[in-house]
Amino acid sequence: MVLKVIDLFTNSHNMFPRINNDLEQDLPKYKAFFVGILLSLPLAAASEELGNAEKGQENFGKCASCHQIGKGATHRVGPHLNKIFGRRAGSEEDFKRYSKGLKRAGQEGLFWDFDTLDAFLENPKSLVSDTRMSFSGIKDPSDRADIIAYMRIFSDDPSNIPEAAPTAIAPEVSLSAETLAIVGDRDYGEYLSSECLTCHQTNGSDQGIPAITGWPEPDFVVAMHAYKEKVRNHPVMQMMAGRLSDEEIAALAAYFGELQ
Ligand code: HEC
Ligand code: HEC
Repeated sequence: MVLKVIDLFTNSHNMFPRINNDLEQDLPKYKAFFVGILLSLPLAAASEELGNAEKGQENFGKCASCHQIGKGATHRVGPHLNKIFGRRAGSEEDFKRYSKGLKRAGQEGLFWDFDTLDAFLENPKSLVSDTRMSFSGIKDPSDRADIIAYMRIFSDDPSNIPEAAPTAIAPEVSLSAETLAIVGDRDYGEYLSSECLTCHQTNGSDQGIPAITGWPEPDFVVAMHAYKEKVRNHPVMQMMAGRLSDEEIAALAAYFGELQ
């Protein structure tokens, strides 16, 4: 029920014709309106209960390969998640890899609060169909509530938590220092990239297949090794990565990392 309403809200261009006018000025109003719709639904009201932030910190491990949160957190594969409560979706100016879909949802009035985060974490694509967040979702509502409670700590008044270190990026596979230190040969990467481009697009478009341009190189390298070592399950990518040497992976990371 909540999902349906959000879908309507984010996908319908005509239902709220004024939404693009005076957007900045009217933002608080739209936010109130949006939250109002959600709260008026009996189901949504029940989900206001916040979870256990300590458990949420452990479960944030599922997010930490892509997101940082806490003091000094920076954008990685995904944007940092400080002050996510009340943030308009897709609105971090210096994060360049948002999908068009998430940005549009934000422009049309999607703000992050308990209910919208809950829906997004349950199934990112059912809230924003073309989101670039490759994450299958968390089925258990209490696991979601715990993670949301943890993120909330970094939203209220982050200056109250000066000692909180950013969550360390938890790599999916641990690679040796030598592997990570390989400096990729960009031109060789360009040469190797042709077979990747039968599926992935260089313009960053992610119709069905995730965009792989503009990633920080270490994240790209870790992702490729995660397929190679079968920590990630996609058979085609396992086969692609399995054929590549460490040098070739580094070269591809250098080439794709440079593309915007
Ligand atoms: C495989 C990488 C990956 C994982 C794992 C991941 N995310 Fe994301 N996340 C992204 C990317 C990329 C985006 C930007 C999506 C877009 O633009 O469509 C994003 C966007 C978001 C946003 C919206 C941010 C904004 O500025 O509007 C939230 C909130 C979020 N993620 C929370 C989480 C949480 C919580 C988890 C763990 C339960 C998680 N993500 C797991 C990659 C990931
Ligand atoms: C036959 C199509 C195909 C080819 C060819 C292909 N990929 Fe992929 N790639 C995919 C699909 C589909 C996924 C999403 C898999 C998943 O869900 O884990 C993916 C995922 C990825 C990811 C992780 C993206 C993310 O958001 O986490 C990277 C990095 C990647 N591919 C790099 C490459 C590179 C480098 C090559 C060339 C050596 C390549 N791919 C060739 C289809 C392809």
